[in-house]
Amino acid sequence: MSIRLSIEPVNKVIDGKATAEVVLQEVKIEVEQLKQQGIEPCLAVILVGFDPASQVYVRNKVQKAEQVGIRSLEFRMDAETSTETLLAKIKELNADTSVNGILLQLPLPKHIDENTVLQSVLPEKDVDGFHSENVGGLSQGRDVLVPCTPKGCLRLLKDHLGDLSGLNAVVIGRSNIVGKPMANLLLHENCTVTIVHSRTRHIQEICKQADILIAAIGRPRMINADYIKNDAIIIDVGINRIEENGKTRLVGDVDFDDVYPHVSAITPVPGGVGPMTIAYLMKNTLHATYIQHRH
Ligand code: GUN
Repeated sequence: MSIRLSIEPVNKVIDGKATAEVVLQEVKIEVEQLKQQGIEPCLAVILVGFDPASQVYVRNKVQKAEQVGIRSLEFRMDAETSTETLLAKIKELNADTSVNGILLQLPLPKHIDENTVLQSVLPEKDVDGFHSENVGGLSQGRDVLVPCTPKGCLRLLKDHLGDLSGLNAVVIGRSNIVGKPMANLLLHENCTVTIVHSRTRHIQEICKQADILIAAIGRPRMINADYIKNDAIIIDVGINRIEENGKTRLVGDVDFDDVYPHVSAITPVPGGVGPMTIAYLMKNTLHATYIQHRH
């Protein structure tokens, strides 16, 4: 009889908070270098209305900007602000050469024409990567501003796996903010990419083929062990607030405890993708600054 000892990998949990700190440190060093050349990167954040979650996100963004030496401007506009007033504010910030990045916190109040407003941000200041010029540029593989969350996810994957070439990647969710840009980024890394969504047939079977599984659906703990290929790497983009045992808590789109024994690595919620999104907003502000000083 032979004895086989199996050793659990020390840590299968991908620490997004720690990686985000590394990214912020990278940004901080570059910001210092820019400042020595007389350039001070500046991010303008606009919040319309009083959504409590949005207020927390904006506060975090401003605080992280401060941490890395990026100047931040915060504009709070009341919930009744008209599309025209918002467009006028963006026009003013577009024209201000001391402002390098413009971020409009979503969701906007229902009466505002979101598409018109997002398209009015100059593409080279569009740190969210939502402008169609940037969306098209990403699809063509040009060096444009790309949405922060997928960029953060890609960084976690590359830090963990190195080369992604030839791997099967399945993205669950087809949003413009995460699913579609994520699929494009993975395609540029030479993955074989599938997007699945609410109308997809045989979704579990498709997910079970994934070496890399990205969950971005917004349904608490929907992805359980039935969706997972053994030793897959799981990136959980979901941030869902649920009531459990009389308490509010944050959970992802993945049932962490159920999938954990089967995966090679997984991001937790909180502490996975969330901190990476903000860190990449800072990277994008830096990128925007470089683009504007290239001309
Ligand atoms: N609200 C939730 N996520 C985002 C994001 O990535 N960008 C903006 N602007 N607003 C958001």
